[in-house]
Order: sequence, then C-alpha cells, then structure tokens
Amino acid sequence: MTTEAMKPLRSFLFIPGDSEKKLGKVDGCGADAVILDLEDAVAPANKALARQMVADFLKARPKEGRTTQLWVRVNPFDTGLTADDVAAIVPGAPDGIMQPKIDGPDCVRALSTMLDKLEAEAGLAAGAIRILPVATETPLAPFRLGDFAKAGLTRLAGLTWGAEDLSSAVGASTNLGADGKWAFTYQMVRSLTLMAAHASGVPAYETLYVDFRDDEGLRASCRAARAEGWSGRIAIHPAQVAGINESFSPSDEEVAFARRVIAAFAAEPNAGTVGIDGKMYDIPHLKAARKTLAIAGDAHAD
Ligand code: COA
Ligand code: MG
Repeated sequence: MTTEAMKPLRSFLFIPGDSEKKLGKVDGCGADAVILDLEDAVAPANKALARQMVADFLKARPKEGRTTQLWVRVNPFDTGLTADDVAAIVPGAPDGIMQPKIDGPDCVRALSTMLDKLEAEAGLAAGAIRILPVATETPLAPFRLGDFAKAGLTRLAGLTWGAEDLSSAVGASTNLGADGKWAFTYQMVRSLTLMAAHASGVPAYETLYVDFRDDEGLRASCRAARAEGWSGRIAIHPAQVAGINESFSPSDEEVAFARRVIAAFAAEPNAGTVGIDGKMYDIPHLKAARKTLAIAGDAHAD
C-alpha cells in the first residue's frame, strides 16, 4: 500500500440519505469523506427512498472524479435491511461502508463476505470497498474490541465509537457525568476503541461533537483527541468540517520539527538516540516524526 492509500481521513460528514438539499451540499463541503446515511438519520417510512437516492447519487459521481470520498452507513443486520442496502449501493462503487451496531469482528466479516460477491458482480476490484465499524454500540461490542487485532479483516479502514446507542441499549438516562463529560462507561469504551484500532494497525476516529454551533469547543476537543492518538472525527454539520480538518492536520511547527528529527537521525545513521536543543530523542520519536510527515503529505516522510 502506498503512503497516500494509508493516509488517515480527517473528517467524515454525515448526510441523511433522504435529504436532497443536504446531499446537494456534498460537493465543496471540504470533508475528506461524507457518510450518506441510511440508518438512524432516516425515518423507517423513508428507508427505501433513501436507499434509492443514495444509489443514484453514487452512480452520478464515478469514483475517479471524486474529491470527497463517498461512504454509506447501512442499516445493521438485526433490521433485516442490510443485504438490500448493500446490494443497492455497491454498483455505485462507494469508497466505504460504515457498519453500525456491530457485536464484534464477526459482523464485519459477514459484511465483507457479502461485499466479496457483490463487488465481483459489479466488476469492481476485490476489496475496494472498505469498512468502518462503529465498534461500541451494543453491550457485547466492547468485549470484542481486542479481537480486531487478530481478525485479519483486510477491508477494515479504522474503528470508531458511539455513545448514544450504547447508553440507550443499557437503559441509561444519560451518558454524561455531573461534570458534563462522558461518564465512566463511555470513557472506558472510547479508550478501548483507541487501543483496539492501534492494535489492529488502523486509524481511530473520534465520535461526533453534538453541539454544532460551538466551533471553539469542537476544536479544543479535537486537539485533545489528536494528542491522544485519534486520527480524525465524525462531523454532523458542514460548519464542523473546517475545525476538524484543521485540528487533525499537523501544524507548520510540527512539520518543521518532524523534519529536524528525521534530519538528525539521517546525520547519524547508526544512532539509536540523538540530541536536539538539549533534549534526547529516540526511535519512537523518529517513527512519530515520519508519521507526522506522512499525514502532512510531506515527501520527506519515507
Ligand atoms: N450535511 C449537509 N448539509 C447540511 C447538513 C449536513 N449534515 N447539516 C446541515 N446542512 C445544511 C442545511 O441543509 C442548511 O442548508 P441551507 O443553508 O441551504 O438551508 C445549512 O446546512 C445550515 O443548516 P442549519 O440550519 O444550521 O442546520 P439544520 O437545522 O438544517 O440541521 C441537523 C441540523 C442536525 C438536523 C443537520 O445538521 C443534520 O441533518 N445533520 C446530520 C445528522 C445525521 O446524519 N445524523 C446521523 C449520525 S448521528
Ligand atoms: Mg446511532
């Protein structure tokens, strides 16, 4: 895989699949990817309509000409709608599928097997359609997070998490603590998602920030998430895209410093540690510097 192919996405903007007006905002929204939703943003009465609208939308935008990746969130297996959703959208070559309410890697494998057949029928390259599971939405799912690392799911594009469906599934009246932050249960599954993604060698994507008018709060939250090891974030409103993209991109100072670290190691090819400005840097710093430059699209990364 090339560095470009492995480059994490920063922003995924959700768009209800039955909203012609919102679908009309895809071009120029600036998100690295949009997620055309067939699941919970669509009322039951509109499911079939949304499926058709999203299928048509994809076909009208051939993959080669896309500047924003087109993903689709399908309905989960227990609704009985997944097979029809997937069959309708695969001919339009979505870049990926967001899979909600999974119980663990086996659910992702089952979707992947469906895609194997449908991709072949549609004449698409095998494995072209990636899968991003929402890996914490059922009470069973958190116990399976560690299993992703050895599951061998070649379509796995990352892991993301969600608090709303989990709190509903456990009968909680809130998922927040008295301080307004995630309650312990949700902090726990969030951290486990981060570990599971890194253990599986895929990016971890932070869940949505619900207050879409609070740009400052969103940016602060994204910066904190990036510092913890998250690669990007779900957006629910176009106004969130710029803040997410900027927060998850390395700053000019970070890029400049990463270049210095790489140059220092290049100057001493046999050294395991180097000193820069009176501080010690070792191999983990070199790896982090390479990663920073890869994300920034800097040619010095390799
Ligand atoms: N995608 C594309 N366009 C969007 C959008 C989205 N997610 N959210 C809002 N817009 C558009 C609106 O249609 C509106 O367009 P207009 O200026 O031409 O009228 C403009 O952006 C401003 O929208 P605004 O009035 O600020 O918000 P709203 O009240 O219309 O919508 C939400 C608020 C939350 C309903 C809307 O942002 C939304 O549908 N978000 C996605 C929800 C979703 O998919 N959830 C599933 C995952 S949790
Ligand atoms: Mg949900």
